[in-house]
Amino acid sequence: MPSLGQLYPLIEDVELPDDIPYTQCSRFELKFLYLIGRHRVSGTGELVELGSGGGGSTYAFARGLSHNLDFDRSTGRLHAYDFFRVGKGTFATPKFFRGGKAPEGESSFLDDFRAALGSHMDFIEIHAGDIWETSDPSDTRPIDFLHIDIAKTENVWRAVAERFLPRLREGSIVLHQDFASPRLPWLHYSTGLLLPYIEIAGAPIRSTLAFEVVRPIPDEVLDRIAGDAFTLEEKQALISRVQEHVDIDYSEKIPFKSVLELAKAFTAHYAGKHRQAWQIAAPLREVPYLAAHRTDHFEQLQRELTKAAAPAARRPASPARKLARMVKRAVTR
Ligand SMILES: C[S@@+](CC[C@H](N)C(=O)[O-])C[C@H]1O[C@@H](n2cnc3c(N)ncnc32)[C@H](O)[C@@H]1O
Repeated sequence: MPSLGQLYPLIEDVELPDDIPYTQCSRFELKFLYLIGRHRVSGTGELVELGSGGGGSTYAFARGLSHNLDFDRSTGRLHAYDFFRVGKGTFATPKFFRGGKAPEGESSFLDDFRAALGSHMDFIEIHAGDIWETSDPSDTRPIDFLHIDIAKTENVWRAVAERFLPRLREGSIVLHQDFASPRLPWLHYSTGLLLPYIEIAGAPIRSTLAFEVVRPIPDEVLDRIAGDAFTLEEKQALISRVQEHVDIDYSEKIPFKSVLELAKAFTAHYAGKHRQAWQIAAPLREVPYLAAHRTDHFEQLQRELTKAAAPAARRPASPARKLARMVKRAVTR
């Protein structure tokens, strides 16, 4: 079996059909998913996709599996987890519907997902609903492949960390699709803690960081990740460790060292340290990629800093300050 790194030179030559379902993944990521499905998994362990959306990423991986001579589609299973519906708090877009928008009165795009996956549906098992409800805490079956495109909140990340990461073994492959999202720093500092047990495939493929587990992950490491048991300083130090391993992405568009620096700012922001968050973030406005693609992040951090500073300005003067003001007025009159 090729290593993950050996798949990189094959990316350019992958041809995917034009009618692939709408996806929020880039063409590069889809091609890499295809290659992993085709060359890097056998299907003896579970294959899991968290956050399948309208099925674009699922389709690319499933197509690779269907071209993989080692994959037995009568026994191999690709588990697809998603709300499969739009609505408040789902992070799903109406673009996941076949027509690009939700039909009148309809919120579920599950039928459209099934139709889009077509002939691959025989080996796909759907888990529709909130991941906390649809995942089984007693399931310990080993996972060979884990695509994570769901951890948009800390709460959902905890579900991933508690219920899926403990099922990784040596040889398991993990893809973090949101690695270019500074607002999700739990992906970055958890990867920092995992570094002694994983091998990073190479440059991130656009937003996706891929790695292989090469040593058993100790329970205490998994518990710390699931319990988010880190101080702010530890989170930032762990992100620094990841910065030593990533730089510009495969498509030469995303400067990951700077993206991860902005992720550190968000660890401070979530800890209520708005001044520190802004101190880290402000200089990053000079990075062209971040200035062009993460303006809203800077605005958010600056807004929070202003809000945090406002109550102090409006705070009623203490008796001592009032007295000092009266004395000053009297003296300067
Ligand atoms: C970025 S989209 C996935 C995109 C997809 N991989 C593609 O190729 O376009 C993230 C998905 O995560 C799902 N999601 C977010 N939180 C979830 C939760 N708590 N339980 C189940 N699904 C969730 C959303 O429904 C959404 O479809």
